[in-house]
Amino acid sequence: MMVRGNTKAIAVALLAGSALAIKLDIKDEESIKDAAATAAYNTWSGYTANQTGQIPGAIPTDWAMGGALFDTMIRYWYYSGDASNNAAISEGMYWQLGENNNYMPANYSSYLGNDDQSIWSLAAMTAAELGYPERSSMPSWVTIAENVFNDQIARWDTTKCGGGLRWQIWAYESGYDIKSSLTNGLLFELSARLARYTSNQTYSDWADKIWTWSTSTVINDEWSIFNDVDMEDDCESASNTQWSFNYGPYIAGTAYMYNLTNGKAEWKSSLDGLLNRTTATFFPSKYGGKILSEVACESTENCNNNDIWLKGVTIQDLAMAALVAPYTASDIMPLLQGSAVGAAKSCTGDKNDTECGVRWYTDYDGSDGMSSQLSATSLFTANLVSFSKKAPSSQSGSENTTSVTSTGSANGTSSGSSGSAGATKSSTNIASVLAVGPVALVAAVVAGAVSLL
Ligand SMILES: *[C@@H]1O[C@H](CO)[C@@H](O)[C@H](O)[C@H]1NC(C)=O
Ligand SMILES: *[C@@H]1O[C@H](CO)[C@@H](O)[C@H](O)[C@H]1NC(C)=O
Ligand SMILES: *[C@@H]1O[C@H](CO)[C@@H](O)[C@H](O)[C@H]1NC(C)=O
Ligand SMILES: *[C@@H]1O[C@H](CO)[C@@H](O)[C@H](O)[C@H]1NC(C)=O
Ligand SMILES: *[C@@H]1O[C@H](CO)[C@@H](O)[C@H](O)[C@H]1NC(C)=O
Ligand SMILES: *[C@@H]1O[C@H](CO)[C@@H](O)[C@H](O)[C@H]1NC(C)=O
Ligand SMILES: *[C@@H]1O[C@H](CO)[C@@H](O)[C@H](O)[C@H]1NC(C)=O
Ligand SMILES: *[C@@H]1O[C@H](CO)[C@@H](O)[C@H](O)[C@H]1NC(C)=O
Repeated sequence: MMVRGNTKAIAVALLAGSALAIKLDIKDEESIKDAAATAAYNTWSGYTANQTGQIPGAIPTDWAMGGALFDTMIRYWYYSGDASNNAAISEGMYWQLGENNNYMPANYSSYLGNDDQSIWSLAAMTAAELGYPERSSMPSWVTIAENVFNDQIARWDTTKCGGGLRWQIWAYESGYDIKSSLTNGLLFELSARLARYTSNQTYSDWADKIWTWSTSTVINDEWSIFNDVDMEDDCESASNTQWSFNYGPYIAGTAYMYNLTNGKAEWKSSLDGLLNRTTATFFPSKYGGKILSEVACESTENCNNNDIWLKGVTIQDLAMAALVAPYTASDIMPLLQGSAVGAAKSCTGDKNDTECGVRWYTDYDGSDGMSSQLSATSLFTANLVSFSKKAPSSQSGSENTTSVTSTGSANGTSSGSSGSAGATKSSTNIASVLAVGPVALVAAVVAGAVSLL
């Protein structure tokens, strides 16, 4: 992931007393659509990449965020019926595709992490599942997602820790020796969604494999997910900062595998365990227990740009789980509703100049920036699933594909590192510490090159 943004609260006092910007009736579909439209409009107002002389789809300093933007906006289009942004979505999605149709465009490819590429591939996957329009001159959305899958499995690393995908792609990148749960969780999610969409066994085999590796390293028996493991110590210790964005992709992936296997017990217990842990950790009872909070950074107002928009990704993952594992909806929807009600109260400004806060459990907290508007858009849009109930489609049109099997084993491999998942060391979040933006990365590349001499 990319650069750390400054999201410190500003001038809260100036805004005190401003009227509620988003009035939300959580029981009313039109009211939620209005809220989503307002948040979407204000998200786009921060998007300059489609202006003359700019690069479509490229958000300066945070390339991955473009993938998250389009993923959210495709969902917004699908659930709200508002197609007014589709020109910008299609332009950006195709522009950033890159020479090999795999979201590794040459301008950025030398400093991307696997997670950056995955975020974009999942937008393509969403486009496939929701039937977002394709250009006949271009590869299909599912082909694009498959291209990224094939890139990433070729990077599966068995030199240490019994497997796993490294955080970074290139050896000169800081974080190359780290195997992060986000990187592996995103590939797990992509595999599971491709498995359900295509009925191709290769994808479910990989979902099984990544899950097995993950539960032997970054996910422990109590369903806590650790941020990362380090190849330097054979992945024996794990960094224990808890981030909701590490849970979302694993929740989505297990829900898809649950669906694909027609409700296999192992996937159900994994999904239940992850949901339980997520609820207990990220929906603090001190805020009523129904509002998502990125607890590692919100109380200290120390969230970076990634942390803020990734919270919207977590929300989308929960909404997907409620659709493909419908038995979870009665637990998940109240969490999405409580968060949306809270988020609406966190917004300020005029209808067409709205800012929603980073923290959804308090009044407007002074945040301003595209990332918090994007998360709010994800959140309001996610609440629309309870009305349409339209689930992601698959190529066969059949929701359960009996030809595809999955072991669903959640007990880890003997080749994995032993007992590391439970171990903790006080280590800071790699996404905060090691993540560097384009400029710093060039410096890191140079520094890396120098140190090799
Ligand atoms: C105001 O925002 C709404 C979305 O909430 C949008 O549809 C409308 O076009 C905007 N109006 C103006 C004048 O920008
Ligand atoms: C860029 O796209 C947004 C979202 O659809 C739109 O509101 C805006 O008018 C577009 N700007 C230009 C210059 O095309
Ligand atoms: C790459 O950079 C060039 C020069 O700035 C620009 O014209 C082009 O649109 C960029 N391509 C992508 C995919 O960002
Ligand atoms: C299944 O997916 C893999 C990975 O993309 C691909 O190599 C293989 O050709 C696919 N198999 C079929 C039958 O389509
Ligand atoms: C989830 O939590 C509930 C109650 O808090 C408990 O009854 C249930 O066994 C838990 N499920 C899993 C899979 O941990
Ligand atoms: C799989 O998802 C579909 C919706 O796409 C749903 O109707 C079906 O009940 C799900 N299967 C299981 C086992 O929950
Ligand atoms: C779904 O799977 C079950 C067995 O797991 C099977 O009996 C049923 O026919 C399948 N349904 C479809 C539509 O494939
Ligand atoms: C691991 O799980 C698989 C399938 O769930 C089972 O067959 C196997 O016996 C388990 N192995 C261990 C060591 O528990």
